[in-house]
Amino acid sequence: MNMKKTRFKNKPIILTLAVVLILQVFGIILFFFYSKAKSEGEGLSKIVEQSSKSQQDYSDGEDELSQQTEHESDNGNSSGSDSENDSGQSETPNEQQAINFDDPSANCPEVDLGLPPGPPGYKIDSADWAAYPTKISPVTKDPNDLLVLVNKKFQLPQDYEPEDLTDLGVTEVRGSSGKSGRQVIVDQLRSLGQAAKDDGIDLAVKSGYRSYDTQIATYNYWVSVEDGNESEADKYSARPGHSQHQLGTTIDFTTNECGDCIGDNFTGTKAQAWLSQNAWRYGFALSYPIEGEFYTGYLPESWHYRFIGVDNAACWKDSGLVLDSWLFQVGQ
Ligand code: DAL
Ligand code: ZN
Repeated sequence: MNMKKTRFKNKPIILTLAVVLILQVFGIILFFFYSKAKSEGEGLSKIVEQSSKSQQDYSDGEDELSQQTEHESDNGNSSGSDSENDSGQSETPNEQQAINFDDPSANCPEVDLGLPPGPPGYKIDSADWAAYPTKISPVTKDPNDLLVLVNKKFQLPQDYEPEDLTDLGVTEVRGSSGKSGRQVIVDQLRSLGQAAKDDGIDLAVKSGYRSYDTQIATYNYWVSVEDGNESEADKYSARPGHSQHQLGTTIDFTTNECGDCIGDNFTGTKAQAWLSQNAWRYGFALSYPIEGEFYTGYLPESWHYRFIGVDNAACWKDSGLVLDSWLFQVGQ
């Protein structure tokens, strides 16, 4: 009876202790599962990071190295007919965070400055830097994406034609009327033209969008100028599907100082110097720089600029890389 009374009296305390104990055990179990899930999550993001790094690793370079000799018969692997739609990705680069002018690289993707020369997937040696690779691949991004890599390795579909082509006359840059380009470049091209004018520089558009079919004619023209020697034409004229002009975001500039010339006479003009200093501020990147042939497969073109978006151009400029190498690294 006495015992019973004591047990009865201690019952609330025992119950409380039991509840506390159960809660503690429960807490330990919860903590265990939380820690496990966290470490698995971190592991996963590391794997994703590593796999995206290894994609940049010139993985298909080896077979290209051994197949480099033949390059003229492989250009016909693109086909199709007109038009491509907009993924919406194309405009995003221009809508990224505003540039931090104190440190333009603050929001930039990391790039490897020690990248080996040559567009991805094939080797360019000093004798044969203008050759096309044996294996040509389709571009790896939506062609509407401002960062899609188009070069001798990566080809645009024959039927790719931007949907937002417009007459560049609306930019009021001299020579732009009757030339077309994507709507996405209009505002910045207008600003660039105005800024050049404000600085007393005459700037004109010589060439804008070129369709796949126009590029056939352009390339064939230069082959005929070279008496049928395609290897010579390949040094400065893209084969169909390989021209950045098909993107509708690329402009060849000229100026009255060289009589609205095309080609090398543009080099050394005030307009050329102005563009090389300022074009990036308006989202335009120089595609084929001096000594860039081992990276791009083309002789330098001081007049040929491709719009990649204002923020992207700041990052590209900051990297110091040839455009093709930078584009390849920032995610194809
Ligand atoms: N001249 C450049 C390489 C083109 O044909 O697109
Ligand atoms: Zn051009």
